[in-house]
Amino acid sequence: MRGKFITFEGIDGAGKSSHVNWLADTLRQRGLTVQVTREPGGTPLGEKLRELLLNEPMHLETETLLMFAARREHIARVIEPALARGEWVVCDRFSDATWAYQGGGRGLDKTKFLTLEHWVLDHLQPDLTLLFDLPLAVARERIALANRTLDRFEQERADFHERVRQAYLDRAQHFAQRMRVINASRSLPEIQKTLEEIIKTI
Ligand code: TMP
Repeated sequence: MRGKFITFEGIDGAGKSSHVNWLADTLRQRGLTVQVTREPGGTPLGEKLRELLLNEPMHLETETLLMFAARREHIARVIEPALARGEWVVCDRFSDATWAYQGGGRGLDKTKFLTLEHWVLDHLQPDLTLLFDLPLAVARERIALANRTLDRFEQERADFHERVRQAYLDRAQHFAQRMRVINASRSLPEIQKTLEEIIKTI
């Protein structure tokens, strides 16, 4: 039987990454084989592209094409083979991030996004997408506390992140079947309880 594909999304500082491994371990306790991966990245080439994408200034369409190039490699080499073997794949960001960041944040033309998505994803879509949502001010505070050099996206102004957040929320409404909005302002145990409830349903 084909495995399930679960993705995590949210603005920078939403705290989703701390839940990725927790969810994978919870699924493993159910006896499932789980691959944890991320975008951009997830393959040796994808990780090299990630370095460029997070640090090198570039044209919006170059950025979008590189996100999708990394994604093509990731789907072909990691995601599809794992799902076909019956394994579950838990991925920290996927195509919804391109919709929100390059589309909502930077204003990429929607038709161009849809063309690339159709080409690269074919018919692959996540079975479940967990959208970690919280007010921008809280997310910015969390990033500031991390006390490290910020990448190109984290350095963007507040209005960019506000548009990314709104694009995610609009998309979650549109794809209400697969996307679930998680109130990420709550404590870790409260969020884990919600996640446990949600994964019972898939
Ligand atoms: P991360 O912080 O979740 O590791 O993601 C790295 C950054 O890449 C994050 O700021 C969002 C950005 N990103 C896009 O802009 N478009 C995409 O398609 C993906 C996957 C990530």
